[in-house]
Amino acid sequence: MTATSEIMIRNARLFDGTGAAAVVRDLSVADGIITAIGRDLPGTAAQEMDGSGLALAPGFIDVHTHDDAMVLQPGGMEPKLSQGVTSVVTGNCGICLAPGLPEGASVPTPPLDLLGDAAAFRFPEFGDFIDALHGSGPEVNVFPLVGQTLLRLRAMDRPGRPATAAEVERMREDLARAIAGGAAGLSTGLAYPPARFASTDEILALARDVAAAGLLWTTHMRDERSGVVSAVAETLDIARRSGVRTLISHHKCCSQAAFGLSRTTLAMIEEARKELSVGLDLYPYTASSTVLLPTFARDSTKVTVTWSDPHPEMEGRDLKDIAAEWGVSQDEALERLKPGGAIYHQMDEGDLRRIMAYPPTLIGSDGLPQDRRPHPRLWGTFPRVLGHFARDEAVLPLETAIAKMTGQTAALLGLKDRGLLKPGCKADLVLFDPEQVIDRASYAEPTLPPAGIRQVWVNGAPVVEDGAYRPGRPGAGTVIGGCRAAA
Ligand code: ZN
Ligand code: CU
Repeated sequence: MTATSEIMIRNARLFDGTGAAAVVRDLSVADGIITAIGRDLPGTAAQEMDGSGLALAPGFIDVHTHDDAMVLQPGGMEPKLSQGVTSVVTGNCGICLAPGLPEGASVPTPPLDLLGDAAAFRFPEFGDFIDALHGSGPEVNVFPLVGQTLLRLRAMDRPGRPATAAEVERMREDLARAIAGGAAGLSTGLAYPPARFASTDEILALARDVAAAGLLWTTHMRDERSGVVSAVAETLDIARRSGVRTLISHHKCCSQAAFGLSRTTLAMIEEARKELSVGLDLYPYTASSTVLLPTFARDSTKVTVTWSDPHPEMEGRDLKDIAAEWGVSQDEALERLKPGGAIYHQMDEGDLRRIMAYPPTLIGSDGLPQDRRPHPRLWGTFPRVLGHFARDEAVLPLETAIAKMTGQTAALLGLKDRGLLKPGCKADLVLFDPEQVIDRASYAEPTLPPAGIRQVWVNGAPVVEDGAYRPGRPGAGTVIGGCRAAA
């Protein structure tokens, strides 16, 4: 075969996304699809590229994001594309933009406000959000979940209690409409009010509907602190009784009392995986980030404010210093800063490494693009795993790290034509320098793009060239998962 193709990458170290060791190969692409992989492929291409010394991998899939608003913004996806991320799962932790705020609500209830102000919640139905995505043409592929926290707020007048049977029915109706509109699954955020007040049975009822539709449930569990073991038990109980495909979000053990509990939780997950479809993901940092919560602040060695509506001048500063300056307690300072968000230093490196090295664990950033001084995970997660943890610290082999961002992730999401380098698969590709790749975003400078990511293609369209993000390329990505997208 000597036909010409659009892209030909020669002599790259090819990591196919299965976890297999790299082999040096050529790879060709035509019409957004990988057409051939082999040695010395014949033919020429419009874009010829020498991959010698570079690693070629499937585009990374960010399995845990809050990019719901960012994917709609033209040129908004630089934080992800610059890392080699070509697909994102949105709508996590119970939080999403559609189907709209409850009637009469003028501001989004925390933690919904992580996604923006009331204007961002402009989609009356989930299908309207999907239509807007199609209309704007996302820069990356989007796998959109609907969030239970929003459904709960819509169904209940006073959400600080378990839902009644009638309210659960209302949530189920909303869920069914969201699924019909294109939602690829359901997320819960049970650690935060108001979802914290949901009973196990409330979640179970929804999980059964998700299972019946063959979709995915992701969960920010009820407790990621000293009660994390019982939270895993509850999650596995729901997975078992509903049969739903389950993903435990950003698994971690926060605060001193929880350090080391990942030994127990991973053993529980390992046991459950013998009969259930249960996965987990992680971001590669020992600090978490979310809205301002006093319980989180009390358990942290250091708290840095990421945004504050009443006190934007305090963004980037330590809560302790702010409290001292104001001559008040930390709890009082936190109250005055609300609504806002923070970074909480509260995890043990040993748990982080243990969870990362556990074979089923996937990589997800949990980045918060709306924060004015975001946690560095937004810009750094994937190169940090590849460069810092795989190459420099040898916590896991590079091919394993790549599989946790590509092939394994696609398998969990049920994507048949992404996450692998194989003829017939979509040409989501990352060409990077395995010696140079590293995150540069830090707590001090959180929005620096990484080093070492050379070229990125989404469905065969170049979005990063010579290490630089090319804005203004809408429409490279597609909306994936969900009923509508499958039609
Ligand atoms: Zn979360
Ligand atoms: Cu999250």
